[in-house]
Amino acid sequence: MTTPGKLFGVGMGPGDAGYVTLRARAVVLEAGVVAHFAKKGRRGHARTIADAAIGTGRREMALVYPVTTEIAVADPGYGAAITSFYDEAAEAIARELAAGTDVAVLCEGDPFFYGSFMHLWRRLRGRFAVEVVPGVTGMSGCWSRAGVPITWGDDVLTVLPATLAKEDLVRRLGTTDAAVIMKLGRNLRKVRAALIEAGLIERAVFVERGTMDGEIVCPLAEKADDEAPYFAMVLVPGEGRRL
Ligand SMILES: C[S@@+](CC[C@H](N)C(=O)[O-])C[C@H]1O[C@@H](n2cnc3c(N)ncnc32)[C@H](O)[C@@H]1O
Repeated sequence: MTTPGKLFGVGMGPGDAGYVTLRARAVVLEAGVVAHFAKKGRRGHARTIADAAIGTGRREMALVYPVTTEIAVADPGYGAAITSFYDEAAEAIARELAAGTDVAVLCEGDPFFYGSFMHLWRRLRGRFAVEVVPGVTGMSGCWSRAGVPITWGDDVLTVLPATLAKEDLVRRLGTTDAAVIMKLGRNLRKVRAALIEAGLIERAVFVERGTMDGEIVCPLAEKADDEAPYFAMVLVPGEGRRL
């Protein structure tokens, strides 16, 4: 009987190939199939990192999202399309695993931190052996490149998706010492308004494409427009105990 393959969720770090761990590199080099998520017609970010860190010429499985930002997440059509996409992607991977092939799913940053991989992991973990290879998160890449220590002493850090309503952002910003606001994209105007209302705009640092080509770091108050790509975040560093 064929010994089933193992599923790997591989954290590829925030962008700079130099931040790919030794374990991530070894797993991707040894896996029979390298799977990666991508938007239609676009090359996924984790796959781009793998090219630089590991090289090309591997057997690949592209997992192409049927929808991304064209439909609102609250739209029932979004939920239905994305659920069947994850079901089908999990089954395509299951077929490889059942045939004895190890599959490495490339993940931007860390697989267990807002990662699409988690939806495959949930579907497959009872059926196959799984290993998650941790990665440097986007936020630690961003605060390192921005030169912004994020938490001092007993500071409490809150990670906020920019997709939350403005009132929720203001409320949560009001009860934390430090914050990371992710998934900026078209939400930057709202995030800026929330930071002004919470009295934190002067502390906020904008980071676009942290550690990647085309990286931009600037105080948010000095950024003239509210344009931001998906790979952007706002850091609000804590001001806790300095010894
Ligand atoms: C779906 S989450 C994935 C997070 C990822 N698994 C991680 O560990 O960082 C995507 C969000 O992470 C943030 N992000 C990740 N890497 C980034 C980078 N290198 N520069 C700026 N933002 C980044 C952006 O806010 C983006 O919208």
